[in-house]
Amino acid sequence: MCGIFGAVSSSKIQNSLIEGLMKLEYRGYDSAGISVLSNTNKIKRIRCIGKVNELKKQLKASKIVGECGIAHTRWATHGEPNLKNSHPHNSNKISIVHNGIIENSDELKAKLLKKGFKFSSDTDSEVIAHLLADSFSKNNNTKNSIRSVVKQLEGSFAIGILFEDMPDTIIAACNGSPLLIGIGDNCNFISSDLHALTSKTKTYMPLNDYEIAFIKKNNVDLFSLTGKKITRKAVKTKQKDKTVSKNGYKHFMQKEIHEQYDIVNDAIKSHIGAKGLLPNIFGPNSDNILKTIKHIHFVACGTSYNAALVAKYWIEEVSDIMCTAEIASEYRHRITNIPKDTLFVAISQSGETADTIYSLKKAKNSSYKSILAICNVPESTITRLSDLVYLTHAGPEISVASTKAFTSQLIALLFLTMILAKYSKNKTIGKSILKQIKTLPTVLKKTFLLEKKIKEMAKNFKNKHHALFLGRGASYPIALEAALKLKEITYIHAEGYAAGELKHGPLALVDKNLPVIGLMPENNLVNQVLSNLAEVKARQGLVYIFTNKKLKLKKNEKTKIITMPSCGHFTAPLVYVIPMQLLSYYVALQKKTNIDQPRNLAKSVTVE
Ligand code: F6R
Repeated sequence: MCGIFGAVSSSKIQNSLIEGLMKLEYRGYDSAGISVLSNTNKIKRIRCIGKVNELKKQLKASKIVGECGIAHTRWATHGEPNLKNSHPHNSNKISIVHNGIIENSDELKAKLLKKGFKFSSDTDSEVIAHLLADSFSKNNNTKNSIRSVVKQLEGSFAIGILFEDMPDTIIAACNGSPLLIGIGDNCNFISSDLHALTSKTKTYMPLNDYEIAFIKKNNVDLFSLTGKKITRKAVKTKQKDKTVSKNGYKHFMQKEIHEQYDIVNDAIKSHIGAKGLLPNIFGPNSDNILKTIKHIHFVACGTSYNAALVAKYWIEEVSDIMCTAEIASEYRHRITNIPKDTLFVAISQSGETADTIYSLKKAKNSSYKSILAICNVPESTITRLSDLVYLTHAGPEISVASTKAFTSQLIALLFLTMILAKYSKNKTIGKSILKQIKTLPTVLKKTFLLEKKIKEMAKNFKNKHHALFLGRGASYPIALEAALKLKEITYIHAEGYAAGELKHGPLALVDKNLPVIGLMPENNLVNQVLSNLAEVKARQGLVYIFTNKKLKLKKNEKTKIITMPSCGHFTAPLVYVIPMQLLSYYVALQKKTNIDQPRNLAKSVTVE
């Protein structure tokens, strides 16, 4: 899951390439590189390990300039994040950048080695460059050559190509990995996402699977894999070019955690009117569709999956609807039973997560009643493919660790819960949820007052190697989310468990060094979680309890109670996740890790 950017213009494009890459850096930051066609039509390449800023410095020193070029920021899949594995990859007169995974690269490489091609990297991507060089050397027709190469590739790919014999042209192709063509004035672009294009042009067209594009500064020729010319109208995006700053915060993650109050508040204001929820907030005619739903299949990854799990607890509690929440990478490869009147719901911050996209495509070819996307990025692949769309409007999430996207998904899912409750067994529960939602902003405000306390608490985690988060009911997914956040940005091994599962294995891990964090919003499960925590205390574990229930427990060296503001049963997940995010943030600050761009990760996971 890398970022691709390219530009062809009547003026110099090397700085545009750097600007584009900077906006795509969230997709990977292991290495970066560019190739440009010089004025003598020779490929000039420059690559570096690490961030785009380093590439910028090297580019300036190199004095490489050109009017046609491709660029790449890498998240390593095949081969270490070193210089030789950085893109672009060259072969003879060809330079390519690739996002995705070529699944049959070993097979293709073996054939190319037999033909005498020499490989200088461990990547799957390099086969594309050699295949093209091989094909172009034998075939005078570039279009046919590229078609024959694309036909040989198995897996997912978005590719940008420079060819010395085709001056002023970027060739692009894709399957399963997004690639957009930006249409400018005397200047055209390719980009992995819209966000990197909007400062250059608002007009774009997506490249569809198995299409090939020849992009010049003044025109774009599109072809199918069979060689048929395709006509496609470009569309105008409504997205504004936003430069996102930290706004005085030390990190984007800290800023985004704090933005959650406004995001939740705005979602409430824009979706709740005097009579409750506004009609059809999930898209045209969505209320009528939701009225007929009997089952829901939620599919998502990571944090978005944890939001889906919360929704499953909520919806089954208030309606007759049966829900499953499933990890997209599992769903997409297994045989699924789809009962009549099932709604498929894809949840994704980026709208570009490969596993979720594949799942959505599978769902589109199945017998679902309808397909709903809950997504933060308008005009993303996931929103484009869905029948119904709810945009979470959390604004650009820059920190790799997701925070505000999660709460914005939860509030959307709580709205969905209310709608489904209205059509189901418990007609009055919707009113109670509404009441809880209306007080949520005030509760969140109070929750943020705990920040200082959590900052202090974080000091106790600095030297820990493991941590356990426990919850029951809808707090169980919050325990999962808390553990995910901690491991992502502090590199402390953390697990989230349904508290009742502790005795079935994880209790073996408990010793005097293990912090165990119990999430206990006031509800009918508090006593059960307390019993589970007693099992921890009996084994000398360190217990931290987050609760808004008055407990008769004695605080001591080994048991700390963090009193949460009182909140509703349904809104508790949105409230209890805040201190968990803050805890991870402050532990990471203690450990001096790269908070916004943790090691080995990337923001948008566009590979399988
Ligand atoms: C965790 C995180 C990831 C994402 C996951 C899905 O902090 O950011 O686990 O939640 O990669 O991404 P989206 O929601 O963009 O589909």
